Amino acid sequence: MSASLRLPDDPENLAQDALDYCVFPMFPRSGRTADSVQVYTHGEGVELHDLQGRTYLDMISAHTRANTLGYGNQEIARAVGDQLATLHYVGTRNNFSAPTIRLATRLAQLAPGALSKSMFVSGGSEAVETAFKLARQYHRSRGAKPHARKIISRWNAYHGSTMGAIGATDWLNLRHIAEPAVPGHSFVPGPTCYRNPFGMEDEAYTDLCVRQLEQQILHEGPDYVAAFIGEPIMQANGVQIPPADYWPRVREICRKYEVLLIADEVITGFGRTGDWFASNHFGLVPDIMTMAKAMTAGYAPMGAVMTTPAIIDAPENFLHLHTFSGHLGSVAAANASIAIYEREQLIVRAKETGAWFLEALKAELEPLPIVGQVRGIGMWLAVDLTRDKATKAPFTDDTVTAVVRRMRELGVIVSPIGTAFELAPPLIAPHDALERTVRVAAQALGDVARARNLPC
Ligand SMILES: Cc1ncc(COP(=O)(O)O)c(C=O)c1O
Repeated sequence: MSASLRLPDDPENLAQDALDYCVFPMFPRSGRTADSVQVYTHGEGVELHDLQGRTYLDMISAHTRANTLGYGNQEIARAVGDQLATLHYVGTRNNFSAPTIRLATRLAQLAPGALSKSMFVSGGSEAVETAFKLARQYHRSRGAKPHARKIISRWNAYHGSTMGAIGATDWLNLRHIAEPAVPGHSFVPGPTCYRNPFGMEDEAYTDLCVRQLEQQILHEGPDYVAAFIGEPIMQANGVQIPPADYWPRVREICRKYEVLLIADEVITGFGRTGDWFASNHFGLVPDIMTMAKAMTAGYAPMGAVMTTPAIIDAPENFLHLHTFSGHLGSVAAANASIAIYEREQLIVRAKETGAWFLEALKAELEPLPIVGQVRGIGMWLAVDLTRDKATKAPFTDDTVTAVVRRMRELGVIVSPIGTAFELAPPLIAPHDALERTVRVAAQALGDVARARNLPC
C-alpha cells in the first residue's frame, strides 16, 4: 500500500475515498465532486439515512426500482443468513437443492400461460442474454427456421448492459458506444403515451407501431428472425402504458411468423404494476419471460428466464450456463420475498395504493403549467414535464433533473427518466409517505419554475 493510500473506513474520508477508489458507472466525470457522492448508512421501511444524518423518503426503491419491500426486512435477511449457514451453493447444471426447486415450482404457478420452466441467473442482463440464446437454439433445433438468429427490439428499449442485451437496447446512449455490437438486431417504434415522434394520436401511432413490426419481420426475412423483445410497459420517458390492443396484435404477428415473443419483465415483474407480471394487464402470454429486481426485493442479486417445456426441450442440450445461476442465498431471498408478497397481499395493495397515489398526483400536479401528464399503473408512476402544454414540447435543458434535485433537497428521492420524472415506491409505502411525496413534488415543481422564470 502506498503511503498516501488511506483505508476506506474512515467516515471523514469516505466521499474522497469513493472518488479515489470507486468507479461511478454512468455518472459523468465532470459531476464527480465530494458533494455528489451519496453515502448511505442504514434504512428502515421507505426511509433511507445518509452519512450526514439526513433522512430521505425513498420513492424509487433503491435507485433501481428493485427494493419493493423496503429497508431492514429482518425476515428476508434471516432467510438468506440461515440458508447460507446451511448450504450456500451447490453449483449449476443438474445440481439443485430443495429451495431452488420450490422456487421454480412457485414461479410456474405465478407465471402466465404455459411458462413453467425456470432458469435462474444473477440479474436482468443475464436473463436477457439467456433468452436470446434460448431463442436461437430453439429455432436451430426445431428445424422449421434453422437460420433464425435476428432479434427485433424497440426504439428507446432498455434490456441491459451486456453485449447481447445492449444489441436490443436503445436508451441511455449505451448502444452507440458499444457498436458494432452483436449483429442481427434491429428496432421498431413502440407505443408511447402523451407524445410521439410524429405528433400522432396515441391510437394511430400504436397502429403504426404494430404494422411496422410486421414490416420489419418481412424486411429482415421471417426465416431469419428468432425473436421480438419488449418491456410490456416501457420505462423510457416514464411508464409507457400501451393501449389494450397493442400486445394482442403483436402476439398475433409473432405467432404468424413463428417469431418468439420475449416479455422483459425485469422492471415490471413481482407487483410493481399491481399484478404479478405486467403481461397480465394485456392478457399477454409470452414465449419467454425475463425477470429480476423485485424477485428478491433487492436483498440478493437474482434474475430468471421462464419458458415453456416445448421451447426449452427443443434443443437436446441447452448450451448456456452461469456460475452463480441459482445461488442459494438469492433463492432464499426470492422465496422469502414471494412469501411476503402473498401473505401481506402486496400485489393487490400495490394496485389499490397506486391508484390512489396516481389520482393524488394528478389532482395536485397536472394543473401546473409545466406538467404535461401524470400517468402510472400500480406503484409505478411518471410525471411528464412540458415547456408548452399546447405543443407538448419536452424540456431539452436540465429542468427535469433540477426538479428531481430539488425534491431530494426536500427529502424525497425520485429519478429523472428522459422527459419525465419517475416514482417507483416500495410496495409497502404507507399513505403518509405518499402524501408527503405529492406535497414535495408540487413544491419542487413550483420552486424550479420560479427560479427559471417558467410559468407557475
Ligand atoms: C427491462 C429491463 N431489462 C433488463 C435490465 C437489466 O437488468 P440488470 O441491470 O439487472 O442487468 C433492466 C435494468 O434496469 C431493465 O429495466
